[in-house]
Amino acid sequence: MTNKQIIEEALKAREHSYSPYSNFAVGAAVLAKDGRVFHGCNIENSAYGCALCAERVALFKAVSEGYSKDDFILMGVVADTPGPTSPCGSCRQVISELYPRDQKIVLGNLNGDYYETDANELLPFAFEESDMR
Ligand code: THU
Repeated sequence: MTNKQIIEEALKAREHSYSPYSNFAVGAAVLAKDGRVFHGCNIENSAYGCALCAERVALFKAVSEGYSKDDFILMGVVADTPGPTSPCGSCRQVISELYPRDQKIVLGNLNGDYYETDANELLPFAFEESDMR
């Protein structure tokens, strides 16, 4: 799947964003080795702290259906941002744990700008399971 295609999947996910408080819609898509694509959008709440970001929704959906870190080969994130959409700190932590650290992540925006990155770049020196031993 190309960068353009994973961002198109993320754009489809973004259409379902529930973001009446921020009016900022985000979409994410995660591609698994078997070809399955998991969509995620941000979902807000009147109790603001209950909101969940698009990236985490996509990854949690995949994990809840039995997929795990090594199954994922591509991820895309998109929103209406001036440059490629930058995942928040909490999403970086979750990506770092649930998505392979060296697999491509494509960040995009509505203008067609792209930035290719990975979890190593998004969250260097991440806190991880091995830190607890
Ligand atoms: N948001 C995401 O979905 N992903 C991010 O990485 C950044 C922020 C959402 C959360 C909230 O619904 C809205 O964008 C504004 O912060």
